[in-house]
Formats: sequence, C-alpha cells, structure tokens
Amino acid sequence: MSRKGPAVGKPRSQGLADILFTQGFGTRRECTLLVRSGQVCVGGTLVEDPDVCFATEGLVFEVGGEPWEYHASALVLLHKPAGYECSQKPSAWPSVMQLLPVPLRNRGVQSVGRLDQDTTGLLLVTDDGPLIHRLTSPKHKVPKTYEVITARPVDERQAQQLRDGVVLNDDPQPVRAELCEITGPHALRLTLVQGKYHQVKRMVAAAGNHCEALHRSAFGALNLAQGPALGHWRFVQPAERSMLLQRE
Ligand code: URA
Repeated sequence: MSRKGPAVGKPRSQGLADILFTQGFGTRRECTLLVRSGQVCVGGTLVEDPDVCFATEGLVFEVGGEPWEYHASALVLLHKPAGYECSQKPSAWPSVMQLLPVPLRNRGVQSVGRLDQDTTGLLLVTDDGPLIHRLTSPKHKVPKTYEVITARPVDERQAQQLRDGVVLNDDPQPVRAELCEITGPHALRLTLVQGKYHQVKRMVAAAGNHCEALHRSAFGALNLAQGPALGHWRFVQPAERSMLLQRE
C-alpha cells in the first residue's frame, strides 16, 4: 500500500477509488464515497482513504463484504441456463446479463457469439471487443463442442453426413463438423469451427434428424468440467485466457 504518486515501471499500481471505478463499481465519485464510507477492505484490512495505491495484478478486495478479483479486462465464463437470451435488449426472455453482477454489467460486457434461448452451456462474456472478434472470426477456427439430443435415433449415416458437410439454406457451400461422435441412441457430440445462426439445429435437420436439446460443453480449451454450476459465472483466469488464444 502507498500514497498516490507517479507510476514508475511495473507492477501497475492505482488508487483504490480508481481501481473500483475501472472494475465497474460506479462513477469516480461513487467509488470515492464507497471507500470513505468504510465499505472496502483489501487483504482483510479496512481502507478508508480512496487515494491509497495498490498493485492491481492479482489484487483481491472486498466491497460490502463481497470479494472481487481485479481484472484489467473482464472475461467471464457463464453456465447459461435455458430461458435466457444473449441479446442486451432481449425480445421475449430475460437477458443473460441479468445473471451477472452489476459491476460486470456496468463494464458493458457482451457475449462472445450467441447461444439460443433454449440452449444451455458455456457462454463467454467480455468487455474486450478485439477478443470477441478474435474468438468469433471464422478465420481463427476456434472449436466449439455441442452435446445434441435428437428426436429420432442417430445412425452412422447421419454422423458421416455431418462430417462430410451439409448444405444450409443461406449458403451453397456445405458446412462440415470438425468432429461428430455418436454418444447415445439419441445423442451426438459435434465440434464446429464456424458460428452460423442456429448452426447445430440446421445441420442436424439437414442430416434428417431434429435437435430436441442442445448444450455447449466446450469453447476452445475451456469446458464446464470444473463448474460453474448452471446459472453461475466465474472469471476466466489469465492462464486459461492464454490457452484460449493459443488454439488455432
Ligand atoms: N447452434 C444452434 O443451433 N444453436 C445454438 O444455440 C448454438 C449453436
């Protein structure tokens, strides 16, 4: 901890109220008041001076007793339940943004691509525009894995059709699954590197079946094996972020 002064080299250090401001806890004035009113602890110690500086890397602080990790840019993994739209301005269902705390929403986070209202599973949400572009651009071929429950029994002919490529109604070029595995009498695991509108549902329909339920189990190197639970979220840690970006 130190008083505010010129930033010299690394690690980066910032005044506590400024830190709260960058993390979405309100206007600069509101953040100053939060600190002055005794609602912020760092390392278990109450800090009432808004100008006291802390190194931001790896910083964990508490606001109103709730712990919060500092992240220069927010990248969040949300386990999306059914019944939520990914849009910021949803038309019929609540927005997934309602599952996130106010400081994240204040940072203007957006979903990385979209899942349908009735699709469950791994959704990334971030305030980093270039990262959204990097992860959704077809050029980078980031694999996404989907678990599909089908209405009719699946067979090897359908799976092979999905691997070979099927034609969807908006593009004469066939789209193929990178991987397609039969995981049960009515179940498929599909890995795709594109992100077309309703892609899984349309591909399964083009192969002569119907998607009854859809769950995204992995996005690049990230999966839901270690949580969070349905409807919950967690920050993606820097090492996981690097893994996401390494995959081509
Ligand atoms: N493909 C779909 O059809 N729906 C989704 O939500 C995601 C991929």
